[in-house]
Formats: sequence, structure tokens, C-alpha cells
Amino acid sequence: MSLHPPLHRRALAGTAATALAVALVAGGALGASAAPDGSGRSTLRALAQSAAGLKIGTAINTDQLGSNTRYDQIAGSQFSTVTPENVMKWDAIEPKRGQFDYTAADELVRFARQHHQLVRGHTLVWYNQLPQWLVDLGPFLTSKQTAAILKQHITEEMTHFKGKIWQWDVVNEAFNEDGTLRDNLWLEKIGPSYIEKAFRWAHEADPKALLFYNDYNIEYAGPKQDGAYALVRGLVRKGVPIDGVGFQTHLDTQYGIPDLETSMQRFANLGLRTAETEVDVRTTLPVTATEQSAQNAGYSESLQACLLVRACISYTVWGFGDAYSWIPGVFAGEGSADLYDANLVAKPQYFALQSVLRTAKGVPHRS
Ligand code: XIL
Repeated sequence: MSLHPPLHRRALAGTAATALAVALVAGGALGASAAPDGSGRSTLRALAQSAAGLKIGTAINTDQLGSNTRYDQIAGSQFSTVTPENVMKWDAIEPKRGQFDYTAADELVRFARQHHQLVRGHTLVWYNQLPQWLVDLGPFLTSKQTAAILKQHITEEMTHFKGKIWQWDVVNEAFNEDGTLRDNLWLEKIGPSYIEKAFRWAHEADPKALLFYNDYNIEYAGPKQDGAYALVRGLVRKGVPIDGVGFQTHLDTQYGIPDLETSMQRFANLGLRTAETEVDVRTTLPVTATEQSAQNAGYSESLQACLLVRACISYTVWGFGDAYSWIPGVFAGEGSADLYDANLVAKPQYFALQSVLRTAKGVPHRS
């Protein structure tokens, strides 16, 4: 899999932190509800809600759900939204053509309802994690057939979950690093209009869901962000039903912290919502004291940026326990990217987020 190749880029200064220091009022106790872990600490979820009306989420590994008590307890108490890490992707939902399997995804939606959580749907149109039947069929499809298959997929899946999904990542990772559209089945067969079509079909299927374009490395100023911006601005001008832009925010201590406040505000100025959708901060192992503090800063500053941009409606981490993180499997020698260690004990990153939220009283409240 060629996900997220490590790229060299300019390290950017963390302007969000400086700005936030001005905007924040150092807070005392917020009266938020305590975590059911005996620690007496407020949960991230309660702090985020009372500080700024911000939703704080996590990706969920459904293999753990229901079989790992501590995992369930953290997932259910610390977060106010959940994203399926894999089980709403096309290969999971339609492993054989015309045979749909919603078992795991439905279980997640049930868990969310039980815990009064919102769901981010992830993801409908992507080049990756497609079922094998579609990969095999792809080269033989005409443009019309490809569009019909894509429309059917979006319609079928969104109809299944209609009314249960808060935000949908309709199109995921459509851009190359140089700002051109990624070469994939959809672009090859349908052309660049596949993106616009996907949003229109999605809106027809579930008019109340918030529809997002989602990508990585658009957190940084540069050609990829510019490409996504030009696309999204074009969609807005044409009246295509897009509601927001998701900044995945898979950070790595060796590349520095992006100025997410400026980046998200740029898109927010188009009248769109923004979200940080897949935050994790990886580092080369083993973690030294310097790297630990860089990781704390990555989490703190990315959360501060979301607090500072009123249009930023949710901050979602891509899993919370190092034992279940996707990072070691994809980035050799890297890891420790999550808020909790391999035994689900909270790490300094977790306390860094706590302290940002505790001092965030007074930032603009969402809705
Ligand atoms: C990753 C999952 O975390 C892994 O379990 C899976 O093997 C591959 O996909 N960007 C995305 C996510 O939009 O869907 C990816 O999730 C991580 C990168």
C-alpha cells in the first residue's frame, strides 16, 4: 500500500499557539462530567463540549469493540463522535458484487447511539480499499458503467445509514502532492467531474448529512492545498452540495507542525465547515524526551487550531491506543502516535489535550 509516503517539507512555525494564548482565558474547573475510570478527571468530551461546543472524536477499530472492556470504556466516555476506521469502506460493505455486509458498521452505529455519540461516515469515494471484484472489473468498464457503479454505491450505502450519519467523507484523497488530481479508476473513466457527481448523488441520498471532501497534507500551505482549494471553491461557486473540508492531520514529528489555523480558515472563508478528521502524531521509535514534547505540541497545536477556527466543528483522532494504530504497519520504525499506550494507559499527549481544553474557556462557541 502506498499510503502517505513521508515527504520532506518546510517545518512551519506554530502560529496557532501564539494566537490562542491571546484568545484564551485561563480556565478553572469547568464542571464537566468525570471519566468513569476512577481518576476523577473530566473527559475530553465533556471539556470540549463545555469549552467550545466542539465535538471530539476517534476512529474505532470494530475488532476491539465489544471484546475489550477498557477499549469500550474509553471509546464511549472520552469522545462525542466516532468514525469507523475501516468498516464503512467499499471493500468491507460490498465484498462480493451485490452482496452487502453492514454487520460491523451497524454495530458501531449502535454503540454510538448508546453513548450519545455522532458518527462520521468514512468513506464513499476513494482509490483505496476497493473490493477485488471492482479492481478486476475496472479496466473493462465504460465511462457510463463506471458512473453507474459509483452512483449505486453511494446511494445504496448512504440510504442504509440515512439519518444516522452526521458528516460523510464523500470523496477521500483525490489529490497528488503536486496539486493535480490523483490517477484512479474514477478519474480515468469518468474524468474530473466524478467529484462533483459524487457530491450530488450523496446529497440526493441523505440530504441532511454534512458532506465533506477529506485529504492529507492539505494541512500545509503548498500545491496540494492549492489544488484542493481550487477544486472546492469551484464546487461552491457551482452550487454543488459540499458542506466541509476534512484535514486528516496525520502528523510526524520530523516534519514540523502545520499552521492549521490559517489553512482551515482559508477554506472556512468559502463558507464551508472544516474538521480535523484523522489526527495522530507519529515519531521514530524509541520516543526520546524531545520527541515526546514534539508529539505533545503536535496534538496541542492542532487542537488549538480547531478551537480558533469557528468553522471547525470536530477534532477526531485516528484511534486512541498505540496497540491498534495503523502507523507501525505503514511507516517502518515509527509509532507511538496515539493518546494512550499499548495498555490503554493515558500518555502525555492525552494530558496535553486536556490542558488545551481546560484553558479554552472563552473561545468562540460552535452552533
Ligand atoms: C487506514 C486504516 O487505519 C488501516 O487500518 C487500513 O489498513 C488502511 O486505512 N487515510 C484514510 C484512512 O483516509 O481511511 C486510512 O485508514 C488512513 C489514511
